[in-house]
Amino acid sequence: MKINCIYHGDCVSIMKTKFDKGSVALVYADPPYNLSGKQLNLPNNQTGGAFYKMNEKWDTFTGESYAVFTSRWIKAAVDLLKQNGSMYISCTQHNIGEIIVVSKKMGLKLNNVLTWYKVNAMPNITKRTFTHSTEFVCWFVKGSNWLFNYEEVKKFNPNRTKDGNYKQMRDFLDFIELPVVQGKERLRDEEGRALHPTQKPEKLIELILLASSNQNDIVMDPFFGTGTTGIVATRMKRAWIGIEQNIEYIKMAKKRIKGGRLCLK
Ligand SMILES: C[S@@+](CC[C@H](N)C(=O)[O-])C[C@H]1O[C@@H](n2cnc3c(N)ncnc32)[C@H](O)[C@@H]1O
Repeated sequence: MKINCIYHGDCVSIMKTKFDKGSVALVYADPPYNLSGKQLNLPNNQTGGAFYKMNEKWDTFTGESYAVFTSRWIKAAVDLLKQNGSMYISCTQHNIGEIIVVSKKMGLKLNNVLTWYKVNAMPNITKRTFTHSTEFVCWFVKGSNWLFNYEEVKKFNPNRTKDGNYKQMRDFLDFIELPVVQGKERLRDEEGRALHPTQKPEKLIELILLASSNQNDIVMDPFFGTGTTGIVATRMKRAWIGIEQNIEYIKMAKKRIKGGRLCLK
């Protein structure tokens, strides 16, 4: 099993065949949410500009096939997780149900549901629902003696006491305010279009790695996309493994991560 490496292919078969069971300290997974083709569409809308619609083949499932897919990848990831290891899964209201049901069935304990409040969320032009402005990250653990780097997480909290000291966790909640990735961090083509529809903020991944891994631990991301987990893990001196089925995204990830290799074709 090679580390600091991107594996190319389907994450379920790679997790089942290429990695050592019980070797991974932390899984961060940002799976397809099965949103494609299911959002409201207002073709002649004049008020909100172009209405961004998620429409990716890798994100398209029927209800039943999504449930099967969710069970298969979570089971494969849990097998790789060490005793007392952590698994964080990004999701929204659309798939949180499947993720919690499956993970609990696999014997994991749900410690927190972190809420990411997207401060620059898309405006609600439909006027038919409340504006969607949040995503979640479910934190599951395998066993009861999990790692939580409380002192490190305290330093992540930007708030300080009057004397400038780190604050206790009282006011650092399971709630994090961050913009959807923009500016220099966002990967774009020459025309300024985002190269990946769901690139995650590095800051979000940093918090997860800080809380639930130590230096040299192996962090695995089965839906590597543009390699955000690899960049943050490298910076924080964690070993990482990424799996991605789309070779174009792998090329982007390799560019972003110094020393990122392709281990498997
Ligand atoms: C939500 S995106 C992850 C984005 C990533 N967190 C980032 O910051 O760039 C999900 C990724 O999983 C990949 N993917 C979907 N199904 C997969 C599978 N079965 N095996 C491996 N990769 C898969 C997609 O190509 C997509 O890049």
